[in-house]
Amino acid sequence: MAELRGAAALVVVLLGLVSSAAAHVHIGAYNTSCPQAEDMVYKEMTNVLANSPDLAGPLLRLFSVDCFTKGPFIPLPTGRRDGNRSVAADVGPNSPPPGATIADLLTLFAKFNLTAKDLVVLSGAHTIGKAHCSAFSTHLYNSSTGSLPLDANYTAALRGQCKPGDLSTLVDLDPATPTTFDTDYYKQVSAQRGLLATDAALLLHDVTKAYVLRQANATSSDEFFADFIVSFVNMSKIGVLTHSNGEIRHRCSAVNPPSPSSSAASVLAGSLLFLLAGPLMVVL
Ligand code: HEM
Repeated sequence: MAELRGAAALVVVLLGLVSSAAAHVHIGAYNTSCPQAEDMVYKEMTNVLANSPDLAGPLLRLFSVDCFTKGPFIPLPTGRRDGNRSVAADVGPNSPPPGATIADLLTLFAKFNLTAKDLVVLSGAHTIGKAHCSAFSTHLYNSSTGSLPLDANYTAALRGQCKPGDLSTLVDLDPATPTTFDTDYYKQVSAQRGLLATDAALLLHDVTKAYVLRQANATSSDEFFADFIVSFVNMSKIGVLTHSNGEIRHRCSAVNPPSPSSSAASVLAGSLLFLLAGPLMVVL
């Protein structure tokens, strides 16, 4: 419970997400059609995370792929529809691979109009959650030239936890404060304890390195939180679908079956499911 109280402040309302579609996706999109929607999602997700605080990391990550102490509250534009295509092969080319270099990351982010600052700020989400050993084993066992070596004590500890070929063990991304949304991640990275190669790589570019060092030495998390809100909203503007470009899924995990018409009732039911079951809000 203490952990939850500690975690209970970063509320990320992931109710929906903006572009030329921006006119249709806005703060409070459900205020008229379903005024209780945001409250319902808030309460539901608060309950879910009270029972399973460890879900905060996966939910936050799920949102980032698909598109707290005191933490930032992020009001996001709502009204975004689900995609009417869901194909695993689409994920790879649009997701940063764990072995990406800093240049790869900057190129990928630029493709989505995200800057080097967005990259270093959003990477700060790795202040919570876990990674599989397999996600960083190359970094741990075969660190390439051109990347900074991992801190020796950290390497030894990690090698104790993750043997080569381990596909199941999970390791905290920010071991000092793994469930607290704070600037500790930057302390880790600055001390060459970035768990993922992509975390460590932030020290290899002027803009990202300067930010890591500034936050590592910050006496408060205010600047990081303010930046995180801005970058998170920037990220939420990627690939927004509205109207017939998307759909309201009846089941969040699957596209709707072809149907000649949707009754008003099924649209409403779909909306509510979308609100309740999607990665819509994270309360940490
Ligand atoms: C810079 C590009 C990024 C890369 C290369 C990256 C990569 C990864 C990888 C490899 C993992 C471990 C997954 C696993 O082993 O199961 C992870 C976890 C995570 N990522 Fe990222 N990520 C990036 C950006 C982001 C962003 C933008 C967010 C959110 C704003 C985010 C939030 C998370 C969270 C919360 C986890 C922990 C998930 C859990 O506990 O299950 N990441 N990331």
